[in-house]
Amino acid sequence: MTDLTAPYGPLAYFLDLHPDAGDFLGEALEGLGANPKRISPKWFYDERGSKIFNKITELEEYYPTRTEKSLFLNNAEEITAAIGAGAAIFEYGSGSSEKVEWLVNGVKDAAAYIAMDISRDHLIESASELAGVLPTPVAAICADFLESVSLPTDVLPPPVHMLGYFPGSTIGNMTPAVAQTFLNNASKTLGPGAQFLIGVDLEKEKPMLEAAYNDAQGVTAEFNLNLLHRMKRELDAGLDIDAFEHFAFYNENDRRIEMHLRATQETIITIGDAAFQFEKGETLHTENSHKYSIEGFCDLIGPTPWRMVNAWTDPKGWYGACLLSNRQSPDERLERR
Ligand code: TRP
Repeated sequence: MTDLTAPYGPLAYFLDLHPDAGDFLGEALEGLGANPKRISPKWFYDERGSKIFNKITELEEYYPTRTEKSLFLNNAEEITAAIGAGAAIFEYGSGSSEKVEWLVNGVKDAAAYIAMDISRDHLIESASELAGVLPTPVAAICADFLESVSLPTDVLPPPVHMLGYFPGSTIGNMTPAVAQTFLNNASKTLGPGAQFLIGVDLEKEKPMLEAAYNDAQGVTAEFNLNLLHRMKRELDAGLDIDAFEHFAFYNENDRRIEMHLRATQETIITIGDAAFQFEKGETLHTENSHKYSIEGFCDLIGPTPWRMVNAWTDPKGWYGACLLSNRQSPDERLERR
């Protein structure tokens, strides 16, 4: 079922694709029963989890948010010049105004800002706020960003081209295979002639990477452990939170930070009739954060319809802003109609 409302309050339109909110119970049972044990990071983000996450982005040790922000701001002129005039900006995972204002204001004659997010209430709230701040029409799409979306064609005037925007190095939280699926679908959503601006956290020495996910105040630990609090609250799970600790390390082979919840003693999690035994030291894998070099990121996009147009890094080479363009041919454009 699809549902387009135009206008929608201060928004030019709201398109609700009714994404599957997911099944916490089913996924918890499946992941705890798997070997090794795992669970999707999407379950981090209840209200408490989202608040803790915002605290992470302000931590001394957590360099990516700050570095990305100054990278974009310091190169705004060059980046927006490379983008060209008349783009409609489509953001994956609707942001705060802080993250989009520089872009929407900087792109010459920007046609629109379209926010996409899976979390309906948060999306409507943040997009509506942006509508009061941005110079362009603002629209919102509630959808799962792993899927492709057909954009409404008759509400807003057609832009010169689409510009996807995916900051926060969220692409690093996908495995490379999922990231490629995501990029393939984004190519369909954004269409021929589109560009894509993506924030990518870069490979660097292990101590700095590990410190970013093991802050001294324990905020990242609290974020990770919130999953267990949620299982207790929402699934009525029987578990001893004190029997688990936050465990994050850089896996050099796979070039990723791995986050786990590690049992500090033998313990058991029960959900309904199901019981899941943890040996001492056994972990529940909760998230990955892949790190790339610019060349490695080029390799990642190689099999997708995107090609790298330009990449900017901060002077220390900690973080990258990659501008891609869609090489989907005009023939495919005809097919899409
Ligand atoms: N994508 C960012 C990163 O991987 C932000 C992030 C997602 C994050 N989940 C996290 C940061 C968990 C710390 C812990 O760094």
